[in-house]
Amino acid sequence: LDVVRFTYIQAIFYEALRMFPLVLHIPKESAFDTTLRTKNKNGETVVIPCPKGTQLNLSAIALHFNRKLVQHWYNTGTQDRFTAKYWRDPKAFNPDRFQGDWNRDAFIPFSAGARSCIGRRYVRIACYLEKVVGY
Ligand code: HEM
Repeated sequence: LDVVRFTYIQAIFYEALRMFPLVLHIPKESAFDTTLRTKNKNGETVVIPCPKGTQLNLSAIALHFNRKLVQHWYNTGTQDRFTAKYWRDPKAFNPDRFQGDWNRDAFIPFSAGARSCIGRRYVRIACYLEKVVGY
């Protein structure tokens, strides 16, 4: 395999999956009583109870386009603005973001963890063979 070429094709493939994840929402169910922690726009920690049996959706599309509400200070006063949280300029198609180091936790088209997609590596190789080698 031409590794450099393969890496770039994979970057294009990943960027397509970041912008257009085939599985938008991955359904899950809480296996035990737990809590989810997040922060509100003032930076305060918010704890959300998540009892056993709670239906959850991992939203790939929301994660891939996630924006963070921040306050900007201008001469005219404070204003709320959105800024990119994980992916800079998330609406732009830019395979280069998958070159070098990138945030593995902010990319879940194949889900994540123990029950993530077992076809992931197969799909990457199959795309390469079809598009580049023409096999
Ligand atoms: C671009 C193509 C694909 C995408 C985007 C994709 C995406 C996903 C996602 C999001 C899940 C997690 C579902 C969940 O947790 O409810 C999953 C699971 C799974 N995928 Fe894929 N998949 C792809 C191709 C494939 C292929 C080609 C195979 C088989 C060769 C495959 C086999 C599986 C299996 C067996 C699971 C269940 C794993 C488990 O529950 O432990 N997938 N896939």
